[in-house]
Amino acid sequence: MSSFADDLHAALAGPDHSISPKYFYDAKGSGLFEQICDLPEYYPTRTELGLLKRHAAELAGRMGPQAQLIEYGAGALVKVRLLLEHLPDSHSFVPVDISGPHLLGACEALQRDFPTLRITPVVADFTRAHRLPTAPAHGRRIGFFPGSSIGNFTPDEALRFLRLLREELNGGALVIGADLIKEPAVLHAAYNDAAGITARFNLNLLHHAQRELGLEFNAQGFDHYAFYEPRQHRIEMHLLPRGVQELQLQGRRYQLSPGQSLHTENSYKYSVEGFQALAREAGFKPDGCWTDDQHWFSLHWLTA
Ligand code: AVI
Repeated sequence: MSSFADDLHAALAGPDHSISPKYFYDAKGSGLFEQICDLPEYYPTRTELGLLKRHAAELAGRMGPQAQLIEYGAGALVKVRLLLEHLPDSHSFVPVDISGPHLLGACEALQRDFPTLRITPVVADFTRAHRLPTAPAHGRRIGFFPGSSIGNFTPDEALRFLRLLREELNGGALVIGADLIKEPAVLHAAYNDAAGITARFNLNLLHHAQRELGLEFNAQGFDHYAFYEPRQHRIEMHLLPRGVQELQLQGRRYQLSPGQSLHTENSYKYSVEGFQALAREAGFKPDGCWTDDQHWFSLHWLTA
């Protein structure tokens, strides 16, 4: 498995200067992401929360008795509460997240609010093979992957990941959020907020490398650049050098010129049909889709 240092050296050396968005998320980056979720321009979080509130009772009913609910990339455990409120005590919950301390803190708070819920946290990279507690004897495994994080995978990665979940949830189902293709101006605003939080989030990738790997760079030397690429239905986020920028990482020097932006994230947007086709290719049976009145965000029930 490659490390942050390996991946950053590779991105700085080129040729395509791109790096995984997972490196946004140290403690600082996770905090900035939480701020993004509350921004007026960033519609996905509140739209998905609205859908979950509206349909939680139906979703919980579909899960059936004694289901084992597994949340991938669990984070702050906010959205799952909406489902848990409609599930009887016999259910168990397995949040999977790579950040151990963050996950355990969120689980303690959840346990206080749901004292009889059986919570088994799993600290792991959920995109790779991982071990889960055994499947329930009399219920099904139900996966939960909200937030449209599937959009941060390339289509190939998304397919591989969905196949992994299909196997893991065999006989159960996956509840997953996917952001929808829409008016580019709405997308543009969501990734270029007036308060500049998304810009700080983007630049945090380099600050994270500075704190963790001793990267030397000029923090004033990069602009946040995010735009919608309509042919691939994706937002691209870049860090655009202002003039030629010198960076030094572990004794190696790199130069980036304005034509060599650092490509830090893709956020793919789907049509309902396109997302269901991807799910089918991964072996799921799409069996329910809910969208908001503006058709901005979708929540899917995929039978495994
Ligand atoms: C986590 N993920 C779904 C967010 C998105 O919209 O792609 C990350 C993000 N990047 C910029 N703003 C939010």
